[in-house]
Amino acid sequence: MCGIIGVVGGDRALATILEGLARLEYRGYDSAGVALQSGNELWSARAADGTRSVEALVERCTNAPANMTVGIGHTRWATHGNPTEVNAHPHLDCGNRIGLIHNGIIENHSELREHLQSLGHGFRSATDTEVMVHLMEEELKIDGDLVQATRRMLPQLRGAFAVAIISADHPNQVVAARRVSPLIVGSRDDVSFLGSDIPALMGHVDEVYAIEEDHVVDLRPGTISVTDLEGNTVHVEPVTITWDIEVAEKGGFKDFMTKEIHEQPEAIAATLADRTRDGFVALDELDLDEEDLRTIDKVVIIGCGSSYHAGLVGKFAIEAWGKLPTEVDIASEFRYRDAIFDASTLVVGVSQSGETIDTLEAIKKAKKSGSKVIAVSNIVGASMTREADGTIYTRAGLEVSVASTKTVLAQVVALELLALRLAELRGTRSAEEIAEAMADLQALPAALTQLVDASEGPEAIADAVGDAQDFFFLGRHLGFPVALEGALKLKEISYLRAEGYPAGELKHGPIALIEPGVVVVAIVLSGPMAEKMYSNIAEVKARGATVICVAEDSDHIVDSLADYVLRIPDVAELVAPVLAMVPLQQLAYAIAQAKGFDVDRPRNLAKTVTVE
Ligand code: F6R
Repeated sequence: MCGIIGVVGGDRALATILEGLARLEYRGYDSAGVALQSGNELWSARAADGTRSVEALVERCTNAPANMTVGIGHTRWATHGNPTEVNAHPHLDCGNRIGLIHNGIIENHSELREHLQSLGHGFRSATDTEVMVHLMEEELKIDGDLVQATRRMLPQLRGAFAVAIISADHPNQVVAARRVSPLIVGSRDDVSFLGSDIPALMGHVDEVYAIEEDHVVDLRPGTISVTDLEGNTVHVEPVTITWDIEVAEKGGFKDFMTKEIHEQPEAIAATLADRTRDGFVALDELDLDEEDLRTIDKVVIIGCGSSYHAGLVGKFAIEAWGKLPTEVDIASEFRYRDAIFDASTLVVGVSQSGETIDTLEAIKKAKKSGSKVIAVSNIVGASMTREADGTIYTRAGLEVSVASTKTVLAQVVALELLALRLAELRGTRSAEEIAEAMADLQALPAALTQLVDASEGPEAIADAVGDAQDFFFLGRHLGFPVALEGALKLKEISYLRAEGYPAGELKHGPIALIEPGVVVVAIVLSGPMAEKMYSNIAEVKARGATVICVAEDSDHIVDSLADYVLRIPDVAELVAPVLAMVPLQQLAYAIAQAKGFDVDRPRNLAKTVTVE
């Protein structure tokens, strides 16, 4: 998820872009860049300096030619290619005449790159984005028309994009288009603006126009025209901006946690984008020798907190699909015990930040022993990705709220992709079975969309149980990691005692604590364990507990057992945990809200834990 901004006209293009980029940093900040146009000149600058990228860009722009009237700017959250200056946007064509910025993922970038290279185009970056600027270069050769060239480029692209293009040969013009990723435009007096979202345009316009998919916008000083792929003019209704800057950064949501919960369908779609090629599972960043993956005889997954829970789900997938013995360990434990692993062990470090010290040190230890190491990270170029032999990136976009939501779901999906790749290489699943499992994963974004919009159920339950002090989260099989994650979310943001337990362990101790006033949250996923969960629910009900069930839509038995039911859509068994975590995020959120706590910044916690 990147931030984009564009300006045409007036005499403050650069200043407007730099101010806008500073306001877009919440969308990502690992690098930033700007391209300016005036007369027949194109000037560009880029900087990659982590959280200081926009500041560093401002310093570089002190050399920018004065009075440039057209410009585009970008703040990047890397998905393809490390967060380096060469991968920062804008990207330029071979002749440095066209500048292009992009938010989204081009799924067919590999095949487009190959084709363009065969036509003689030289690539400078490792990004998916760069193919677009070379495509534009090709298309402009036909008639030199920036809008027509964009119209011809769009059908060649698969994936998600909001793209803005300027050219040295096209003064006073920015052309933009979108598919999936958002794009808004607006104009005032003799200046027109575009942006990925409202903060980019705040203070400049009072009304914005939201562009529809596959429409092309031609921005000129003070005028905007929108056309479809056939060139027909499209009428767009304006929307008045009523948000202040703080609300705008949160996309209109009350806080970042709500925003990030709502971004989960997009985060999962992005993590799944471009993961099959020619019928095979494609994990481009993994970069590990196929023979090494084929010959491993054990997998060890390491993580902390929510990342550990994602690992526990991953174990089921790797065992079921890849038929490999899989251990999951808490990084701070793994580091200091005499764990048995060697060159035939695959060690997977799971961490959204890619910086958690215990996980980092654990994978270093594994590497020293000759094991192959994979990092699963949300941050391109993070320490763990540099340490590991290969990486699978979750492409969840920047997560600001301390409690992980969209990144945990994306970690589960990334581990399941790894499981499918292992199954493919080891021949433990047929091509049909792998395609079917891939389709099960692909069904998640739509099911998540349904879920994230339905927060009323959790809110009503939170009202009813919010005064309780003791919560037990019970699950079996794939429901157990979900129970652990649900309990952790509640602890973190509501400061309530919440324990996650494998439901089968109930009789071995914890049932002694069940009495009226205790709330039991039972995760009932379809499959062989459902019946056993029904018995466990009956046991705690008989001892006076209030029971909340998370269950699939088709499960009608829970209605007669539980006090409250949180529903999730029916999906395949191995992908169900991804959905089941969502109502538990919403429940924890609703309880914390009712208590008046700051959900984004819970006490005593930090987003990145770089100390032991
Ligand atoms: C839970 C949470 C933490 C992290 C843990 C690991 O909501 O955010 O438990 O999951 O600190 O962090 P990463 O994934 O960055 O290694």
